[in-house]
Amino acid sequence: MVAGKSNGVPKGQRAGESQSSMPADHCQLPIHYLRRLMEKKKQIVMSGIRPTGFLHLGNYFGAVRNYVRMQEEYECYFMVADLHSLTTHPDTTELKTNVHRVLAENIACGLNPDKVALYCQSHLHETCELYLYLNMLAYKGELEKTTTFKDKVRQQPDNVNAGLLTYPVLQTADIIIHRALYVPVGKDQEQHLEMARNFVNRFNHRYGQIFPEPAAYNFGEKLVKVPSLDGSGKMSKSENQFATLYLNDDDELIRKKVMRARTDSGPTATNSAKPDYIENLFSLMNLVSNEGIVKKFDEDFNNCTIRYGDMKKQLAEDMVRFISPIREKVKSILSNEKYLKEVMEKGAEKARISADATMKLVREAMRFNYF
Ligand code: TRP
Repeated sequence: MVAGKSNGVPKGQRAGESQSSMPADHCQLPIHYLRRLMEKKKQIVMSGIRPTGFLHLGNYFGAVRNYVRMQEEYECYFMVADLHSLTTHPDTTELKTNVHRVLAENIACGLNPDKVALYCQSHLHETCELYLYLNMLAYKGELEKTTTFKDKVRQQPDNVNAGLLTYPVLQTADIIIHRALYVPVGKDQEQHLEMARNFVNRFNHRYGQIFPEPAAYNFGEKLVKVPSLDGSGKMSKSENQFATLYLNDDDELIRKKVMRARTDSGPTATNSAKPDYIENLFSLMNLVSNEGIVKKFDEDFNNCTIRYGDMKKQLAEDMVRFISPIREKVKSILSNEKYLKEVMEKGAEKARISADATMKLVREAMRFNYF
């Protein structure tokens, strides 16, 4: 199937046109057969994870847990964005350690390298080729207007490199090289996704319908709140160290952080509204404690008999119970370099099958067929 000829295929079906594992020879097969084959295929999901910093509880409930859910239902490509990290971290001495850590953390949280393609961006060279083509369709003006670019210009005025400017172009290449439909990302990435759709439409318009439009995927109301422990905002890397629980924290540190969380002398009227910082403790408890326990403390609050010290002790123990197995699993994975190597090799191999099929279509559509 020559790229340009798929123009008549309705949009919905084009989206499923994920021949990622379909060898090029199948392109000679009749269209009704191909359609059936495509219908049976799972829809494609792609996301990238920056190898900077340690995973915290907010990352777990906000992102990783969603990847883990999606791996059952979709054809998933999850990538460590090591090339993107060069835009802000040109010093690569720590890169290997960071890449290993990100892989180990995601696996420890339940990502299964047998079910998904878990790979490193720098191992999939085809992405760089697609990035180059897309760069010719991306304009300086729109790139300069990107919020993340403007933020970085402020943060690192001495290193406003071209990679930073074209960050959304590389991200687009990451996504569309698998002709992915869904991209599970946070709100901060929505503008990049919108740019990706623009680049896709420009490409498709100029060279033929190769790519479906990727959309941000979020779990809507299922998105849970992971508040920080100091009662201000979400758990995040930039918060003060004691307000965020990392999956790497040891048991004592977890207890210490939870016990330091802000409380007060308790409610004085029955059934009163909870102050934000108390509501936050309940939100955290909802994530890791069993229902009966949360209910008990809720009732205690409503009766004005709640003892915040007891509540925090309970929360601390439930956090330890939740985090410590993940932390230990990360450690054990990190100590097995051979396993990590196999994961990366297998991931790259899967990603390459998908990327090869796309790049064949791309080169053909762009008429790089000189002989
Ligand atoms: N820009 C993303 C972030 O900052 C990381 C990323 C790189 C990504 N390539 C991607 C996310 C492709 C989704 C799809 O978190």
